[in-house]
Amino acid sequence: MKVKVAVVTDLHFSKFPNSAIPSRKGEFAGELLRRMVLRVNYALKPDLVFIGGDLVDRPEDVNGLELLAELKQIIGLVEAPTIVIRGNHDPGKRIFESIIGKPPDFVDVKGIRFVPFFDADEPGCNASRSDCELSRMRKLGAEFAGSLVCLQHVPLFPPENGICPYNYKNAADIIEIMRETGYILALSGHYHNGFRLIDCQGLNYIAGRALCEKPFACTLIEIGMDGAVNWHEDSLTVPVDNGEKKADIFTAGNVF
Ligand SMILES: [Fe+2]
Repeated sequence: MKVKVAVVTDLHFSKFPNSAIPSRKGEFAGELLRRMVLRVNYALKPDLVFIGGDLVDRPEDVNGLELLAELKQIIGLVEAPTIVIRGNHDPGKRIFESIIGKPPDFVDVKGIRFVPFFDADEPGCNASRSDCELSRMRKLGAEFAGSLVCLQHVPLFPPENGICPYNYKNAADIIEIMRETGYILALSGHYHNGFRLIDCQGLNYIAGRALCEKPFACTLIEIGMDGAVNWHEDSLTVPVDNGEKKADIFTAGNVF
């Protein structure tokens, strides 16, 4: 038996194209999410969906909160249990949760416990986990006999790895708690390229690729009952011609 998780993250929904970062197609985020939800429901069929934050790009813009409410409606179409957390681009916690809802303290799926965290933003697009959240992390791990997965927006990984320019200021402390209390995997967003599975001293770290940038992907993770973790991506990009060349969903004639 395996637990299958789909990570859909960093939508950056916006009313207008992003002239500063044209590769960020946030103006299509609603449509991208609709299509990804269809793939998730009818093809991927995960046990859990994790939506990892940065749902909107600039909530302070006119209609920013309306865009968030539109995404909430689309998220409501996901058939699997879904955990949605706030990213640094999203409105503050109170407003975000008033529209999206408060994330659960944890969700148990087939003997694996998934724990979302609310963390503080730090300069340089980094983050830190408060003492209160560290205590909650420790408590939820200590009281649970099975393996756990921590869910956060900013990538959590061993600082010495250096795979990504963003991390937690107190990453070493968080990883120590992971090791002590049964967490086997950290799932994150925020870093738009994402990074593949890092297996470091028996703990696993993955950052999901942003949905708003090519290849418009979600990340699929399978966790075995023995704690083995597998990783792959599923994108909305579709093959054309002989299958060697790829076109994205915005290429004329290849929209599905
Ligand atoms: Fe972010």
